[in-house]
Parts: sequence; C-alpha cells; structure tokens
Amino acid sequence: MSGPDLEAIEGAALADVAAAATLAELEAARVAHTGRRSALAGVLAGIGSLPPEERGPVGRAANSARAVVEAALTARQEELEADELGAALERDATDVTLPGDPHPRGALHPITQIRREMEDIFLALGYFIADGPEVETAWHNFTALNTPEGHPARSSSDNFYVTGRPDRLLRSQTSPVQVRVMQEQPPPIYLVAPGFVYRRDDVDATHSPMFQQMEGLAVDEGLTMAHLKGTMLHFARELLGQDREIVLQPHFFPFTEPSVDVQVSYVDKAGRAGWLELAGAGMVDPNVLEACGIDAERHTGFAFGWGLDRIAMIRFGVPDLRLFHENDLRFLEQFA
Ligand code: PHE
Repeated sequence: MSGPDLEAIEGAALADVAAAATLAELEAARVAHTGRRSALAGVLAGIGSLPPEERGPVGRAANSARAVVEAALTARQEELEADELGAALERDATDVTLPGDPHPRGALHPITQIRREMEDIFLALGYFIADGPEVETAWHNFTALNTPEGHPARSSSDNFYVTGRPDRLLRSQTSPVQVRVMQEQPPPIYLVAPGFVYRRDDVDATHSPMFQQMEGLAVDEGLTMAHLKGTMLHFARELLGQDREIVLQPHFFPFTEPSVDVQVSYVDKAGRAGWLELAGAGMVDPNVLEACGIDAERHTGFAFGWGLDRIAMIRFGVPDLRLFHENDLRFLEQFA
C-alpha cells in the first residue's frame, strides 16, 4: 500500500489559506487543515500502524507539510490584519479639506475698551499703570488717605468689611494704590491705577456695588493746580473730542486740598449745552505725602479719579449702567 498523498494534502491546505479573504475564513482553513479532524492529523495519528520502515519517512514528510501549512497560515494572518487596519484607517479618516465649524469672533467689553483708551492717553504722557489688591487694609484705603478712624466714609454701612477683620475691606476706591506706590518709590511719580472697587449701594441706573475706577497721581517738584487742569483738559479732549471744554468746581475729598469736581462740556441730541461731572481731583494733601514718607516741603502732587462705567455711559450714550453688567449679547455686540 502506498503512503498518504501528503503533497495533495499540503496543496489543498495552501490553496484554502491563500483563498481566505477574511480573518474568519482563515480561521476556518486553520481548523480544516491543522485541526484534530484534519487529513494531516489523521496521517500523523496513523503513523503507529504503518509498517516500521515507512514510519520514519512518512512522519518526516507529514511534519514538514504541517510546518509549511502553519507558516502559510501565519503569513496570511499578518496580511489580513494589515488589510483590516488599512481599511479601518480609511474608514475613520478625517477629510482635512472640509470647512470647519466657524467660531464667532468675540470683542472686548465696552468698559474694557474705554479703560484701554484711557490707559493709552496717559501712557503717551509718560504715566505708568499701577495695580494693587482689591482686599485692602483700612490703613491704605482710609487712614493714609487722611480719613481717620471715626470718619463717616469708613462706616460699615457704606463698605464691605471682611467678617471678623475690622481692619480689612474690599477697597472702596483705587486711591490706596497711590499710597502703596508712594511708599515704594521716590518721586517723580506719574501713575494711573485702574481697577474694581466696592461700595454698599443698591443697584439702579447709575449705581452698582461693584464698579471700575481709574485713579491718577502725579508727585514731583513744583506741580501746581495749572498742571492738574492742563492734564484734565488734555484727557477730556483726547477721550471725548477736541471741541470739549472743562471747568473746575470746588469740592471736598479728604486726601486732596484744594479739591475739585472736573466738569466737561457736552451738547445733547437736541442741541442743548451743559456740563457733566467727569472726575474728582485735587492737590494731594501734604498729610498724605507725609504718611507715605514723602517730604511735602519739597514735593507737591495732584490726583484725579473717576468711574469707568460712568464715562463709558457718557462716551457711548448708554442711559443705564446695568446694561454693562447683564452680559446680554444683543447689547454687547453693538460695541464689537
Ligand atoms: N477716590 C475718589 C472717589 O472715589 C476720587 C478721587 C481720586 C478724587 C483722586 C480726588 C483725587 O470718589
């Protein structure tokens, strides 16, 4: 009896392996040609019952056929896996030539726009921009600014004190920034300090418990009221138009002496002319200079300050302060 036709068995197995088009078909070919019920397994199982002289050659031939088939299975498996990966990459690919989702372009808040414009006006005059903490000591916010204990401006019904810390409050003005800078550096000093301030006020068309101020300070030798007035006139014209005029009205602030209200001319839509309050200002009180370690015999200074929100109302013709804080895009988009 002739031995099994291992060439035919191997040939059939290799043909099925090559024909497998998916990993599942390849697995079926593996089971059919190398599994327990395969022809090859049958040959190997029958070796023991062959005549002794045939066992060696048939065993070697069967094992080599099995090795060839297994190598073909492994090679085909790698090919099919690579194909599937390629197909998955193609399926999931992003078309980078498609247009993206548009992001609407944002814009600066109108009060930020105004703040930056003001900063630019003073930077051009050689001033620098100073910053300070919003939680202040009562000493910086009041005492050093010639507003001693017991002064009505310090009352807890007008200010936000930190609970349990009668010496700490949310600053009620940006003026404590002048104090901090004067303590740190000798004159000449020319600064503006923009920032948030806090006061106990009910919200209405012209009041808010939180708003932004800008404070200015100049300390040098020989500064007079004329320098203050010239600076305010320049500021009003740069910001609101070269046809503006200003007047100074007597006023009171604890930290300036004399103190003034700076008013700026305006003409309303009906053609009526009038004056609008623009800023508080004055010559720095010598007590303030001394409290900050500056020789008031040698140096004089002027200071000025205003609410950014108020000036934004004038500049943009907005009648109600609350509009600036409601974050209603229909309002804000008009300033983009
Ligand atoms: N700090 C004052 C206020 O809040 C404004 C001001 C600043 C007045 C500087 C004079 C000088 O009302």
